[in-house]
Amino acid sequence: MAERIFIGVAWPYANGPLHLGHIAGAYLPADIFARYHRLKGNEVLMVSGSDQHGAPITISAEREGKEPQELVNRYHSQFLDCWQKLGISFDLFTTTGTSNHTRVVHDIFLTLLDKGYIYKGSMPLPYCPNCRRFLPDRYVEGTCPYCHFPRARGDQCEECNKLLNPSDLIDPGCLICGTRPQIMDSEHLFFSLSSFAEQLRSWAEEQTQWRPNVLSMTNRYLNEGLRDRAITRDLEWGLTVPVPGFEKKRIYVWFEAVIGYLSASKEWAQSIGQSEKWRDFWQGDAKTYYFIGKDNIIFHTIIWPAMLIGYGGLNLPHDVPANEFLTLEGRQFSKSRNWAVWLPDFLERYDPDPLRYLLSAAMPETSDADFSWREFARRNNDELVATYGNLVHRVLTFAFGNFDGCVPARGEFDARDNSLLVRAEATLGLVDELLSRCRFREAMRAAMSLAQESNRYLEEKAPWKRIGEDRDGCATSIGAVLGAISCLKTILCPFLPFSSQKLHRLLGFAGRAEDGGWSFQVPPSGQKLMPPQPLFTKLDDDRVAEETLRLRANIAGYL
Ligand code: MF3
Ligand code: ZN
Repeated sequence: MAERIFIGVAWPYANGPLHLGHIAGAYLPADIFARYHRLKGNEVLMVSGSDQHGAPITISAEREGKEPQELVNRYHSQFLDCWQKLGISFDLFTTTGTSNHTRVVHDIFLTLLDKGYIYKGSMPLPYCPNCRRFLPDRYVEGTCPYCHFPRARGDQCEECNKLLNPSDLIDPGCLICGTRPQIMDSEHLFFSLSSFAEQLRSWAEEQTQWRPNVLSMTNRYLNEGLRDRAITRDLEWGLTVPVPGFEKKRIYVWFEAVIGYLSASKEWAQSIGQSEKWRDFWQGDAKTYYFIGKDNIIFHTIIWPAMLIGYGGLNLPHDVPANEFLTLEGRQFSKSRNWAVWLPDFLERYDPDPLRYLLSAAMPETSDADFSWREFARRNNDELVATYGNLVHRVLTFAFGNFDGCVPARGEFDARDNSLLVRAEATLGLVDELLSRCRFREAMRAAMSLAQESNRYLEEKAPWKRIGEDRDGCATSIGAVLGAISCLKTILCPFLPFSSQKLHRLLGFAGRAEDGGWSFQVPPSGQKLMPPQPLFTKLDDDRVAEETLRLRANIAGYL
């Protein structure tokens, strides 16, 4: 029976370009998962959008001397362009700036207020006497008490990653004018997270499908004891607070961004002209998945679930397959020090599938993984091209050249032919099982091992040596290996959608590679093949040297 799968993906702040770490952390696994489920014939809704509020946006805008909206527009359209080029197949990628989003957020806010889960209180906050304003955490900078990095932010040190409060900083200063902030009381609205402690704990205990890193971080947080959280901020940029007396404050960006999953689902339903259709993915037996980086776990396993419980009637997350981090040549990606491979740059110079391959094969699922240009070229040349691309190209060229450009008519399969096809069928089943459990790296390994097995088969059968004396036998071997290749096309479709589509056409099929679903499609004999073209190209050492140099030149200015 067809399942319903909701896929929420982290909402990127629209204050800067995406880098490869974001892709490996959330967007690629989400897309593989969505494509896989669509192939299986399941109903999928995958949404996300630009997170356009909060201090991260206003700080970047101030730095550039631009209005926040201008910055947001620029990066939102850049994100859309990246999704298209990289093949991230959102059903909707919207923004938190829509009136629909405001409506949905205000509804949840007021419902929680009505039910007593939101209450007024005051808290001591840093205040800049010179700017005459309260400073959000990120507007206070100072020296990190742990690693002594001189420009740590009031919420987190970017150097050692420790979470901080502005009061932890040594020599704190206002980010705008440098004045040392005073501490003053400010009135805010609080979300009563503590009310949900017991329900969250017993719910989390049942989630045996969660990854160990997600379970342990969630449990650690629950064990520390849940504290109520301020959900308003002293900012001008953001969603208004629908409560009298709070006209000058805004809703805390995290509180409203997670609601984006629901508001985007409603927007999507509207856009297809079935305004109640979102319910199919939020109520009943739909399964809900959130793809995020590990720094966002708590928001998706504790805070958002608490909001959902408080609101009532909506499904809680079924799984939150958070990835660990991708590092770049052994160091953390850093926006402030420009240590990054930026996605728009990358996609201007390279095809999407080799990147999708590398980030799948080395996905930071259970531990951090590293990207380097050398490794990118190695995996591209020695694995993607050598194992898969060359297999396809050799077989198609041979078939095309020796059998009138058609899939040859084959004879009886022998035991070896059958064992290859049985292996292909088994791989389809294995990858199915692995992908349903979000084991992306293992699934990719299984697919590549079918490609290796097909290469072994081809070496043993060596049709190019036998074509003179045993044309019929060769036809049978080519028939078998074309079957295995066609199976690979389907298995790799979620990972490498562009080259699977290309291969689909080269094999002589019409329409889209996805049309056949998650099944073993053997090209029928007599089917006309297309003139063969390589699926991938090699990257040479000069290219690696050039890219590595470019990367180091970027950071040089910041050291
Ligand atoms: N904008 C946040 C970040 O980039 C992520 C928001 S995810 C959501 O870290 F859950 F709030 F949507
Ligand atoms: Zn100031």
